[in-house]
Amino acid sequence: MSDISVLEQTLNNRNWKLVCSNLLANMLSEFMYEEIISPIEIETNYQTSIFDLPIDKNLSYQFKGKRRLFDSYKVLPDSIKRIRNGTTTYACDPFQFILDTYNLVGITEKTVSGLIKELSNTALADMHIVAKTKELDFDKILSQPFYLESQVEGHPRIIFNKGRLGFDYNDYLAYAPEQKQKQRIFWVALNPQKAETFTVDNTDYNNFVFGEITESKLDSFILELKKQVTNYKGYYLLPVHEWQWYNHIIPLFAADIYNRDIVPLGFSSDYYLPQQSIRTLTNITKIYKKHIKLPLTILNTSLYRGIPRFQTFIAPLVTNWLKNIQSNDPFLKENCRLILLGEVASAYYKNSYFSQLDKVPYQYNEMLGCIWRESIFSKLSANETPIPMSMLAQRSISNINYISILISRSGLNPKDWIKMLFKTMLPPILHYLYKYGIIFTPHGQNVILVVDDYVPSRIAIKDFADDTAIVNFQLPELGSLPSDLDIFLPRRSPDHLCRHLLSDLCLSQFWYLFELLESYYDYSEHFFWYQMRQEILRYQYCFPELNERFRMFDLLKSKFFKLCLNRKRLFNYGYEDYSERPHTFTYGQVNNALNEVAEHHSK
Ligand SMILES: Nc1ncnc2c1ncn2[C@@H]1O[C@H](COP(=O)(O)OP(=O)(O)OP(=O)(O)O)[C@@H](O)[C@H]1O
Ligand SMILES: [Mg+2]
Repeated sequence: MSDISVLEQTLNNRNWKLVCSNLLANMLSEFMYEEIISPIEIETNYQTSIFDLPIDKNLSYQFKGKRRLFDSYKVLPDSIKRIRNGTTTYACDPFQFILDTYNLVGITEKTVSGLIKELSNTALADMHIVAKTKELDFDKILSQPFYLESQVEGHPRIIFNKGRLGFDYNDYLAYAPEQKQKQRIFWVALNPQKAETFTVDNTDYNNFVFGEITESKLDSFILELKKQVTNYKGYYLLPVHEWQWYNHIIPLFAADIYNRDIVPLGFSSDYYLPQQSIRTLTNITKIYKKHIKLPLTILNTSLYRGIPRFQTFIAPLVTNWLKNIQSNDPFLKENCRLILLGEVASAYYKNSYFSQLDKVPYQYNEMLGCIWRESIFSKLSANETPIPMSMLAQRSISNINYISILISRSGLNPKDWIKMLFKTMLPPILHYLYKYGIIFTPHGQNVILVVDDYVPSRIAIKDFADDTAIVNFQLPELGSLPSDLDIFLPRRSPDHLCRHLLSDLCLSQFWYLFELLESYYDYSEHFFWYQMRQEILRYQYCFPELNERFRMFDLLKSKFFKLCLNRKRLFNYGYEDYSERPHTFTYGQVNNALNEVAEHHSK
């Protein structure tokens, strides 16, 4: 089908209105949560309030919204009105909303322009998702579970969650996960004098990589390498994302290609599907083979999706360390049966020119490298299915409620299923925090729920080199931390670790999961968070010896600092280039529902 006919089918009136009014409603909800706007509550009924947002003397917005725990709001898309000079119109234009409000909230015009680009890409992607929804067949997806990663709709708290700045429309159709297009990777050989490689057991990187390539392909690559380089022995083989190869490696590493430090070898014979992070690819020709995390120099959500050298260096080290902790801890190993998707090998090649500049934008030093990650499919038994948590906890513009399908097939009632979910998901994450002072970043994209006959049975966690942090005390349990790793892993205060954990679990996942449960089962909000709280208390009851840690890492305290993912782009970073990777920002505090529900139930 041509691009034009895809567009014609996608950009129709129904899709446009649905997507844009949802986007506008999400924007209002998230802006209220992050205190970017402060509309006035002018009428309150039992569950729903009417809010008024005056912009100037001639312009205001009015809408209905539900107040939620965690100081959050659910704005109802069909209720939003724009009132200009006394004339009221139904509002479903998120771009106009930004243009109407940027002066009021204090966003610069430069940032507004970038934001409109990201929002437009997001809306276009959402329209493609909605247009494809009618083709969905859950059983078909479950029978080929590598497609599950294509069903997700992006980070629910970030309004520009499919910005992908750098992709043109053809790139979008070819490489965005929701497009489900299989792709091949491009292989190069790297001069070992210039490249670095790392493996979990310090074995030879090429030995590992040779096992990932079919024999005939490997023979043809070696033949090609011999043709190009006399002294070819020891050259490392590296996969490169096709888009990255054409857009950044050929143009920006031309001198290295000319010098034969980078030798192009050709495309893979295996096919890959992009996961929801776009740049990590699943081998679908051989699903047990490693997943490949690659640099893709596009700005998506919080940063350019590159791979810095330090991540390639620590990936095998952190994998080894976390897995050792698990194998020596019977609770993690036998009770939780936690799956850690190890980052077992990695490679990095620095750009000879950009790397000599102190203040070069960080993305220029993150363009060529790779992290090899264990495949979830190599870890499961026959009746287990891996469900990305983000699939269960999304805003669901496509109006598909996967969770209700799982619950009804499990034979459990919704309350018991949710109890099982918390019981499965929380203990391993709590145990790493309370006992070892370690957190991962367990947002919906980094956690996979494994269901056995549709019932939650265990979880898999990924993304260690990028997303592991440790407490800034010398806990005795951190004694096994290798000194090489100690230098690189971020050390954070207990408060910092707790707010990250609560944000990733509660605000970026469970909050949205609850929304779906409410719409489908009329689930009680207080009961939902009470169930989560009970699971934390149950864990604490089982480990009285960690009592002091429960005070140190107080997940149940009344307030915590609020992480603001949209503010960060709108006010802190905009679309400037920076030499350091962006970090997180907080604004104000948020009331902790896990604390509030305790009072509710004791009344
Ligand atoms: N529900 C979701 N929650 C968080 N991120 C999501 C979600 N859906 C899609 N994403 C995308 O996934 C990426 C998450 O960022 P993160 O740094 O955890 O992953 P990564 O390091 O790029 O890749 P990987 O997790 O494959 O190693 C971002 O590009 C984000 O936009
Ligand atoms: Mg991730």
